[in-house]
Amino acid sequence: MRIGIIGAGRIGSTLAGHLDRIGHEVAISNSRGPETLSGLVAELGGSVRAVTAREAAEFGEPVVVAVPYGAYRELPAEELRDKVVIDTCNYYPERDGHDPDLDADRTTSSERIQAHTGGNLVKAFNAIHWEDLRDRARPPGDPERVAIPLSGSDSQAKAVVSGVIDEIGFAPVIAGDLGGGGRRHQPGTSVYGALLPADETSALLRAH
Ligand SMILES: NC(=O)c1ccc[n+]([C@@H]2O[C@H](COP(=O)([O-])OP(=O)(O)OC[C@H]3O[C@@H](n4cnc5c(N)ncnc54)[C@H](OP(=O)(O)O)[C@@H]3O)[C@@H](O)[C@H]2O)c1
Repeated sequence: MRIGIIGAGRIGSTLAGHLDRIGHEVAISNSRGPETLSGLVAELGGSVRAVTAREAAEFGEPVVVAVPYGAYRELPAEELRDKVVIDTCNYYPERDGHDPDLDADRTTSSERIQAHTGGNLVKAFNAIHWEDLRDRARPPGDPERVAIPLSGSDSQAKAVVSGVIDEIGFAPVIAGDLGGGGRRHQPGTSVYGALLPADETSALLRAH
């Protein structure tokens, strides 16, 4: 697949490395422009290309969004419309600024991003620390394979993202739709950062 990545920090660059390793075409971007990504691209050592955020959104499907949540209004909405978008973001008010609706749990960060982009959002990779994402990939059947929860409102989009999670070496576990499901794997939940196998993760998600 051609996969665009917006955000070239810890999560975006880690995913770029995995996705390139398993043979996807990857275009990655940040806020400062592709010329600032030459070091990262050299470090990744594969065929990952550096582009603008707009170009990454045009290039890929799915498109990974791995920016600080507070920057979501800067995402190229026109190019993301109708695309499968993988939302890795978490809301941290001290970093992102307070949103009273998020603070009161009237909505979620993923629903806010979906409202902005109009894309077909799947929340994934938000509940695993980037170093674990980098180091804990394991093949299917390995007893140490850990789960990555995902949520979204479109079954086909969830199937695409489940496939990506599986391919890079983790067990996808569907938590539900974007709102209700997403709430089950936000910061502070029992599965967040837990590094558990799929069956234990499913049980915790059901109990939420
Ligand atoms: N770190 C973790 O372990 C972890 C785990 C799970 C989820 N998350 C969540 O995933 C998201 C990314 O986290 P991170 O740790 O990877 O962040 P990070 O290391 O701080 O990197 C953020 C990246 O986003 C880019 N960016 C910022 N604004 C942008 C914009 N308007 N357009 C394009 N790119 C933009 C930055 O580019 P510039 O440097 O050019 O500004 C940078 O490459 C956050 O929402 C975070 O809460 C993080």
